Formats: sequence, structure tokens, C-alpha cells
Amino acid sequence: MRIDVVTIFPDYLAALDLSLVGKARRAGLLDLRVHDLREWTTDRHRTVDDTPFGGGAGMVMRPDVWGRALDDLMLETSAPTVPAAGDDVARGAHLVVPTPAGEVFTQRRAEELATEEHLVLACGRYEGIDARVAEHYRSAGHRVSELSIGDYVLNGGEVAALVMVEAVGRLLPGVVGNPHSLVEESHGAAGLLEYPVYTKPPRWEDREVPEVLLSGHHARIERWRRDQALERTAARRPDMVAALDPELLDRHDREVLAGLGWQVVGGAADGPDGRRSSARLERVAE
Ligand code: ADE
Repeated sequence: MRIDVVTIFPDYLAALDLSLVGKARRAGLLDLRVHDLREWTTDRHRTVDDTPFGGGAGMVMRPDVWGRALDDLMLETSAPTVPAAGDDVARGAHLVVPTPAGEVFTQRRAEELATEEHLVLACGRYEGIDARVAEHYRSAGHRVSELSIGDYVLNGGEVAALVMVEAVGRLLPGVVGNPHSLVEESHGAAGLLEYPVYTKPPRWEDREVPEVLLSGHHARIERWRRDQALERTAARRPDMVAALDPELLDRHDREVLAGLGWQVVGGAADGPDGRRSSARLERVAE
């Protein structure tokens, strides 16, 4: 995979030389290039921003500078093709714009982006990038995703770009040594947070590792971990419990969730007029 990151602070991205992403770059699994947006300015002051039309605080990044940078980078791989009807193979670079005004960047988004051959990340500063830039590349047939890493405001897109490159990079084949470690993680397909983990020593500060984990009894360990994942998710992320598909819950799961105040409702002929409503989890009133 190729990833280009465009920023006015290339040094921010130096952390991508480290750890697994750095190793993936050196191994040739990830062709990651960081660019200084000011290379595409044409004036003596290397200006990238200007005042907002309509007034208001702050500065907005100019579309002409971004356009020159992105025209150069986005077309270095194949040109975009607007997929024909029935053909969902999109080609060409996918433009990613980190912004607090974007859709939420989730593990599902990371998985989608990991299937692309070329990502270009455009890091905005100040009040953001002139809105015509995203529109222009979308109408030229590129996929364009404006994505937020969470409900808080950073000073620019660089830290969000670091987050995205790491989340996507570790999903590329060969980057994480043991692919099994990708299977049971929080935000995986099960829709649950990961269970707590323990290592040696078995006793530390008067605290024992849960006995079941020392039992060697594989099925009991699996069940205990699943119960812990359900408990954790109910306590920390009730939104994730509400989004669980009841079809994926066995009887024991349902009992554990009932003990935590969650019940499966619907899914039988109990809708209005006796029609089938889809099953979902609901919190039982206390
Ligand atoms: N830029 C500033 N804040 C951001 C956020 N929360 N997510 C992505 N990009 C940002």
C-alpha cells in the first residue's frame, strides 16, 4: 500500500519511523511518504491560508495550494474510475481528510481503508481546508472521506493522521507478526471490548490472577473471557451493547447480559399487529 501524508508540519509524522509501522516501511510493506504542503506554494512567503469569506475567526487553507499538491500526488497511481453499474471495484487514490467535522473513524473504516492501494491524507490546520477541495476530488471520481477520530478538537489533522496510519497499517498483511492478535481485539467483529489480560507473576501486590486462567481448561477460559468482555462492555460502552446483534448471542451470553440489566426484545411475533419486529437489546428499567 502507498500512503502520502501532506502537512505543513512534516516533523509531526516522524513517529511513523518507529515501531511496527516503521518496520513495515523498511520491509517494503508500506510505502509511506510525508510531504510539506509549502512545496506547492508559489509566493515568497509560502502562504497556505487566507481569511474566511463571510467573516469569522481564524484562517482557512487555500484550495489552489491544496489542489496543486493533490493533483501531483493523487494521480501518481492509477487514475480514478467511476465504477460502472454492478462493478464495485473503485480505482485511483482515496483522499482522506482528518477533520473534527467528519464522520467517525472506526475499526470498520480502518478495515475499509486497508483494502485501498493508495491513500492520500490531507492534514488541515487553522479552521480547516476550503470546502471545494473535497468536492472537487469527489466529482473527479475519487473516493473522499472526511473523518474525525473523536469528539474533541485538535490543533490540526496531523495527530489524527498518525492515528489513522497506525490503525490502517497494522491491518496490512505481514505487519503484525501474529495475525491471531488481530482476531480477539476490542472493536473486532464480536462488537465487544476485549477481556482483561494477565501475565507473570501470578501474585503481585497481594493480587492473584483469576484462578480459571491457571486451570488449563480451555473451554472454561473461553467462557470466562467472553463473560468478562460482556461485563466490561456493559459497564464502559452501553452504546456497543445496544448495537449487538442478538443472533450472535448464545443462551449464556443472554443470561450474563440479563444479570447486567440488558434484555433481548422483539424478534418474535410481538410487534404491532402481531408482525415480526427485529430483535434488539434494551436496558431493563430499574
Ligand atoms: N482535526 C482537529 N480535530 C480533529 C479530530 N477530532 N479528528 C480528526 N481531525 C481533527
